[in-house]
Amino acid sequence: MNKDLELIGLTQGKDTGKVRAMFDACRDYVELETGHPPTNETVTEFFEDHPPTISRSATLSLIVVDQRGVPVGLVEILRGYPDPMDWYIGFLGIDRERRGEGFGKRALDRIVEKARGARMERLLLCVLEENLRAQAFWHREGFELRKRTPPWTAGSKTHIRHELVRQL
Ligand SMILES: CC(C)(COP(=O)(O)OP(=O)(O)OC[C@H]1O[C@@H](n2cnc3c(N)ncnc32)[C@H](O)[C@@H]1OP(=O)(O)O)[C@@H](O)C(=O)NCCC(=O)NCCS
Repeated sequence: MNKDLELIGLTQGKDTGKVRAMFDACRDYVELETGHPPTNETVTEFFEDHPPTISRSATLSLIVVDQRGVPVGLVEILRGYPDPMDWYIGFLGIDRERRGEGFGKRALDRIVEKARGARMERLLLCVLEENLRAQAFWHREGFELRKRTPPWTAGSKTHIRHELVRQL
C-alpha cells in the first residue's frame, strides 16, 4: 500500500527532539549497526557527520511525515558524493511500527525525483551485509552491488557493507 508522504527539512537544535524520537523508533536498526541503543550522540552524528570531501551545507537532513503530518522516518542525503553528479543516501529509516506500508518506497521515489530535478546521474548508498531485509528492499528498488567494503567498525560492531548504485 502506498500512502502519501512529505519530506521536510530539519534544523539541528530546533528539531533535535524529533530526530531523537525517530531514532528511538528505529532503535532496532541503531542496535544492529552499533550494538547499543540510540543516544544523543546518534542525533549529533546525524546532523554533523559528513565526508571530508563535501561541505556540511551539501547534506540534507529530512523527516518523513505521513498524510496526517505524523513523523514516520528519517532521511539523510549527501549531495555531490562520492562524485559531483552523485547523491548518496546516508540514512533511510522508517519507524519500526510503520514499516511495510510503502513509506520506504515512497520516500525513495521522492529522493529520486529530487535528484533527477538536480540533474544528478547516480544514487549510491551502503547497506550492512547482515541487514538482509534492507538489502532485499534496495535490490527490489533497482540498486545493484558496486562493491563490498573492508570491515568497518561502528560502536561495538564490525561490519562488511555493500555499496549499491542506481542510475538515475
Ligand atoms: C528498509 C526500510 C527503509 C524500508 O522501508 P519500508 O517502509 O518498510 O518499506 P516498504 O514498505 O516500501 O517495503 C517493504 C519492504 O522493505 C523491506 N524491509 C526491510 N526491513 C523491513 C522491516 N523491518 N519491516 C518490513 N519491511 C522491511 C522488505 O523488503 C519489505 O518487503 P517484504 O514485505 O517483501 O518483506 C525500513 O524497513 C527500515 O527503516 N528498516 C530499518 C532501517 C534500515 O535498515 N534502513 C536501511 C539502511 S541501508
